[in-house]
Order: sequence, then C-alpha cells, then structure tokens
Amino acid sequence: YDIYLNGLMGAVPRLPTDLTRLEALVERRLGPGPVGYVAGSAGDGSTARANRAALERWRIVPRILRDVHERDLSVEVLGRRLPTPLALGPVGILTILHPGAEPAAARAAAARGVPYTLSSASSTPMEEVAEAMGDGERWFQLYWSKDREVTRSFLARAEAAGYSALFVTLDTPMLAWRPRDLDQAYLPFLRGIGTANYFSDPAFLAGLDRPVAEDREAAVRHFLGLFSDPGRTWPDLAFLRENWDGPIVLKGVLHPDDARLAADAGMDGVVVSNHGGRQVAGSVAAADALPGVVAAAGDRLEVFFDSGVRTGDDVVKALALGARAVLLGRPYAYGLALDGQAGVEHVIRCLLAEFDLTLALSGHARPGSLSAADLVRETI
Ligand code: FNR
Repeated sequence: YDIYLNGLMGAVPRLPTDLTRLEALVERRLGPGPVGYVAGSAGDGSTARANRAALERWRIVPRILRDVHERDLSVEVLGRRLPTPLALGPVGILTILHPGAEPAAARAAAARGVPYTLSSASSTPMEEVAEAMGDGERWFQLYWSKDREVTRSFLARAEAAGYSALFVTLDTPMLAWRPRDLDQAYLPFLRGIGTANYFSDPAFLAGLDRPVAEDREAAVRHFLGLFSDPGRTWPDLAFLRENWDGPIVLKGVLHPDDARLAADAGMDGVVVSNHGGRQVAGSVAAADALPGVVAAAGDRLEVFFDSGVRTGDDVVKALALGARAVLLGRPYAYGLALDGQAGVEHVIRCLLAEFDLTLALSGHARPGSLSAADLVRETI
C-alpha cells in the first residue's frame, strides 16, 4: 500500500514495479555490455525462454471465502525459520554491474530479511560481504575447484565468516556456449577487479608464480583453469561432507534420479535450476522439472527452485509445485545495476508484495497451504 499511497501524493517509484521491464532499462542506461553479461544464455536462448513459458503455462486456480486477513509468509528452511520463502541466488562478478557490487546486494538482502547466497566468483572477498550483512542470513555457493586446497580454504573461510549453508553448483563443470558472452571482451572486467574472492585466497595465491598485481592476466588464466572440475562424480561428495559441518544443497538438479542420488549421498537439499538457461542449451525448463524432482525427493531433501522467477505468481506456482523456497537471479542483478542497494531492495519489496497479494487473492494465508491441486497446466 506504500506505493499506492505515495502515488496519491504524486510520487511514483524510481524503478518500474513490473520487474520484467528492468532488463530494457539497464540496456538503455548501461549499454549492451553489462546487460549481455546478465541476460546472456546458452545457445540461442531457448532454455531461458522455456523457463518463462513453463511458469506461464501453470495457472493458479484461486479459492474464495477463506480467511486471508492475517498472513504468515514464513517457512522452515535448512533448520531455520525464514520470514519469507525468497532468497537471493548466487550471481558472480557484480562489479560488472555496479561499483557497490556484492556488499550492496548483500546489505539489501539483510535489510529485507532475505538470505543472500554469495557466489564463489564474487568480486568481493567473502569476509567483506559477511561484514556488510551483520547478522543477515547468508549462504555460500561453491564452484568446486580442481584444487583441493582452494576448496578446503573456501569452506574454512566461509564457515569462519558465518555462512550457514553450502550451495554446490554442479551444472557448471565448464562454461556453456553463450554467444552474448563470447561476443564481448571480458578480460578488461577481469583484469580490473575480477573474482577477488579467489584473488584474496591464500591457497589460490600459493598457486601463482607472481603476485596478482604484477600479472593479473596470469591470475585470471589460473582462475579459469581451476574454477571447476568436469571429472567429478558422486563419491566425491564425501570430501565436502568431511570439510563442511552445515547443510549442503546441490544446485542444478533437473533429473529425478539425480535427486535420489543426492538423498542417498546424505545431502540436505537440491536446487531445481538450469542456471537461468545459461548452461544446457535446449534443456528442460526448470518449472517442468520441478514436480519430478519433488516426487523423487520425498521427505529426504528440501527442494529449492530457480530459473525464470520474475513475479509473485511465479513464487506461488513454484511453492505449489513443491518447492520450499525460491532463489532469484537476474531481476536483482538488474536492480543493482540501476540503483545499487536501493535497486535490489526495490526488487525484493516488489516481488514479496506481489507474492503476498497473489497468495492471499488465491485464497491462501500461508505458503504451507499451497499444493499442486491449486494449479492447472494449460496444454497449448
Ligand atoms: C548466474 N548464476 C550463477 N550461479 C552460480 O551458482 N554461481 C554463479 O556465480 C552464478 N553467476 C551468475 C551470473 C549471472 C549474470 C546470472 C544471470 C546467473 C545462476 C543463478 O544463480 C541462477 O541459477 C539463475 O540466475 C536463475 O535464473 P534467473 O532468475 O536469472 O532466470
């Protein structure tokens, strides 16, 4: 209602409340480079489009005359009570979008009571981001390095800095064919600040012949050589269990059999995600993969969802299909690009307000009362 009341006084929001309009605004204000980094997808972009189309195909069947006066949006996630089922997902190298980068996004998340997932590839060391967040709930996303010592060091640093859960991204054993990325010059970005989370890590630095400042290009090449390992298989997860005491969630799960294997390996959760359509060109839409993974997970895993979430009704649909919480990607990156911390807060507020309204208008006072019976799927 704040927005309506401000509107009565003639004050309109600084950014659009329709979050699907942010991309075009970023392109107009910042040019094609930053927007290409964020919007870029695998192949011809069909997976990213399919993510939206799949969410739009699911339709809510609202109920009436239910008491929705008092609402409770909180959910139980990884052993903690969160105020809402929304978290910011990991997005790397945010200096490309705004000088405030990860600390600005993380402060926005903390201010709005939303967990922040810090990317391994962040342009700010994880300790600095933790400090910016105070007591705010934070999770650490791991790109599982080829170098065991770098992985060990990241896990130890994350634990010491108060990151409460580990999200291991497994859909990126290598970077996909992303034409919009391939067609632009990244080295200047990386030479500038790059992934300072690596460039400040003692185990990473030990692998360099010369200090980063003396040869940034060599440091970038070293990073690209070890950031991931295409040779990993399921038994390797034991290494993470040995080196991380908190919950472990596997990000990038789309096949029900992989959900079963994750549960068998003693993992705590999975994120149904196709990396926002940035990895497997022609991949199944994340929302279409969600019901199968939820069924396979049963009560053995907590299921998270991302890829294509842009509106409050998308969140309602993901929860009705069995997700416990939803991670947000591009929209908050655009909010950051346009207005730093305030832009990210704007995105979070709009999405949560729309979620709250859509939930209530659909006849539900809390996330837990949603089920697949509240949706129908259009067949065209
Ligand atoms: C990402 N994503 C991502 N995921 C991850 O695990 N580590 C990372 O460093 C990044 N970096 C990253 C950069 C950019 C620019 C984007 C757009 C995405 C994927 C991200 O966490 C999430 O899975 C998707 O963004 C979700 O899809 P939507 O909401 O962008 O459609």
